[in-house]
Amino acid sequence: MLRMSELIERKRNGNKLSASEIRWIIQEYVAGTIPDCQMAAWAMAVFFQGMNAEETMELTMAMAQSGDILEWSLKDKLVVDKHSTGGVGDKTTLVVVPLVASCGVPVAKMSGRGLGHTGGTLDKLLAIPGFNVELSSEDMRRQVGDIGLAIAAQSASLVPADKKLYGLRDVTACVDSIPLIASSVMSKKIAAGAQGIVLDVKYGSGAFMTTRDRAQQLAEIMLAIGEGLGRSTRALISPMEEPLGMAVGNSLEVMEAIEVLQGGGPKDLREICIELAANMLMVGGRTGNEREAQALAVQGLQGSNMPGASVQEGFPQKVITQEPTRSTPAWQMFQTLVAAQGGSLDAFWEEVQGQRRHGIEPVLFLSPAKGTLARLDARRIGQAAMLLGAGRDTQDSPVDVHAGIQLYKKCGDTTEKGEPLMALYLSSQEPTPQEKMGRVCEVLKDAIDFRIN
Ligand code: URA
Repeated sequence: MLRMSELIERKRNGNKLSASEIRWIIQEYVAGTIPDCQMAAWAMAVFFQGMNAEETMELTMAMAQSGDILEWSLKDKLVVDKHSTGGVGDKTTLVVVPLVASCGVPVAKMSGRGLGHTGGTLDKLLAIPGFNVELSSEDMRRQVGDIGLAIAAQSASLVPADKKLYGLRDVTACVDSIPLIASSVMSKKIAAGAQGIVLDVKYGSGAFMTTRDRAQQLAEIMLAIGEGLGRSTRALISPMEEPLGMAVGNSLEVMEAIEVLQGGGPKDLREICIELAANMLMVGGRTGNEREAQALAVQGLQGSNMPGASVQEGFPQKVITQEPTRSTPAWQMFQTLVAAQGGSLDAFWEEVQGQRRHGIEPVLFLSPAKGTLARLDARRIGQAAMLLGAGRDTQDSPVDVHAGIQLYKKCGDTTEKGEPLMALYLSSQEPTPQEKMGRVCEVLKDAIDFRIN
């Protein structure tokens, strides 16, 4: 008869747990017979003592098997998924899912909501009026079969162990543990039935892994789990020192993703989208050649110019017209996705423009110095966006889809004293009190450093 207190003690003392012990912990925790206090103590013991590769693999399987496991059988085609370990301004899913599907590789993407300084894909999609993220496994299967892509919230029947354990880790400072992150991420990919998996492991101030070394260790263990379980898996390691792209906040990020889908957008965002998509095409078996995969991804973001359409750069905010500048295959696929899940891009543009019409104008944050922007701290920018209403500090806090930060400068850009560095879009649900704006400005001042030229 196993006793949780003994297993906590063994892990606390740095011993290895067996497969049957790990399985027992997960089963009993999900069944409610192991209380949160013991599970939290065990998670902390894992945090300090770690787990070896075998234990991490067993934990992943035990978590995946705590609920339903989906299986895909699309004739001749592998269904692929991608996962980013989280960051600020990371809207890559909105671009790469339609991009990869437009190249003929089906994508079934399960996404999450944002928490703390990091954003979540579901919150971004919910900025599009009507977009339904609650698809059943059956709806998801039908939609991927019909149009080749779907993005949905993870259903409650998939990996219930992760939902419960992640909530506990979040409030007990046990999130940034390599075996716990690896098993959390990979159990969800395995349960969702992904046959090819691409991982974007972030490092830097805005990521869970602050150094490249730790990101590399996390990538290696996740690759070993994926390959060990027979899923073709590739991993990228990418920086998250400054936000990705120029937009942080849900509707601002949808607009920026649309720019990339239409063949434009910021260079850093576009480049990582191409890289991720190329890797997804490879794990999906579209091609085994890296160059060809890259070329296919680039082509998916190229298309014919649409006469008469335009993107206007109107200061202080960017005004993107409803009409695409270029009709690319990826943009067409994005529109198909939005329509299939009940969303309306017309209503999205209406709302964005309505915000402006109702006088909810952004506040400009001006450069306090002349020089070169040497640091634009992703975590701090994410925290400021959250305070403005774009993110949630607890799992139940509401999110304002129109709040956020539009950057005008990134690291390496020069600026004059008094020149706008960014525009702050305030929550439209409540007037932002002076005191809160004061805190936002404090956080932003702490986010930037200059090199005086
Ligand atoms: N993302 C996850 O899905 N799980 C973690 O533990 C951390 C990031």
